Amino acid sequence: MQITKAIFPVAGLGTRFLPATKAQPKEMLPVVDKPLIQYAVEEAYDAGIREMIFVTGRHKRPIEDHFDTAFELEYELEQAGKRELLNVVQSIKPADMECVFVRQPKSLGLGHAVLCGERLVRGEPFAVLLADDLMVGDTPVLRQMVEQFEQWGASILAVQEVPQEQTKRYGIVAGTQVNSHLMDVSRIVEKPSPEQAPSRLGVAGRYILTPGIFEQIRSQPRGVGNEIQLTDGIAGLLRQEKVFAFQYQGKRYDCGSKEGFLEANIELGLQHPQVGPWLKQYLKQMQLG
Ligand code: UTP
Repeated sequence: MQITKAIFPVAGLGTRFLPATKAQPKEMLPVVDKPLIQYAVEEAYDAGIREMIFVTGRHKRPIEDHFDTAFELEYELEQAGKRELLNVVQSIKPADMECVFVRQPKSLGLGHAVLCGERLVRGEPFAVLLADDLMVGDTPVLRQMVEQFEQWGASILAVQEVPQEQTKRYGIVAGTQVNSHLMDVSRIVEKPSPEQAPSRLGVAGRYILTPGIFEQIRSQPRGVGNEIQLTDGIAGLLRQEKVFAFQYQGKRYDCGSKEGFLEANIELGLQHPQVGPWLKQYLKQMQLG
């Protein structure tokens, strides 16, 4: 079965980025010149997904506007003969891409946000992308995961090795290694302390899930932080069916944290054709100063 739909939970409060996120969504923060959410949507599109489901909350209108036509702007650019910029604006939403929006009335947790997309997923396996995890890989990470899904036909979680002292920030998995990059998951724990962590493999913000997840989320009690956790839903799911953890090839920037966000801006800035050479020079100068 093909993955045709992706859920983008964008209803979080983004408290770690206050005051920037007081009146604008965290997912609209730009890395160099593109908002985080656009990187995630492009990754999904590249993986063959055409139906983008955004789970939004208050203050999330800029996301809807970003993926809508901007008639006046496009008209002005056309009149001014600025074809390149017009292209940039129009390619945000290719003609064969559909965007749908559903509200999460309260930030009750990531599991609850995913549950809000249930009706739109219509009983099919689907992807979940957390836009604040910016992923860069020679082969885009979600495409790598779709390839795994096509082979195994089961839920796939993106994982990476995390430092022992950071297990508290992640869902941590344990299980049986199937090959060098794939694990048959037998356990998943949300934000364990380093002493209690069953491994050092932490879940990154990319998932392919079967629709069985919804029943699990619905029937589970609240978890860590009194939130309805996606990790707890996955813990229920793996008692019913196979779930694999996939060590992807690529780099993840945790753009939900200031450090990760700055790192992404510097590294992607250095690769940017327009500002890259300038930034390299600037960083060199700073070191000398
Ligand atoms: P985070 O744990 O990063 O939470 O959510 P947050 O509220 O966005 O940010 P901080 O921690 O307060 O700074 C991970 C992802 O899940 C979404 C967020 O939008 C983010 O993409 N989310 C989280 C929801 O959509 N709804 C929720 O209730 C919680």
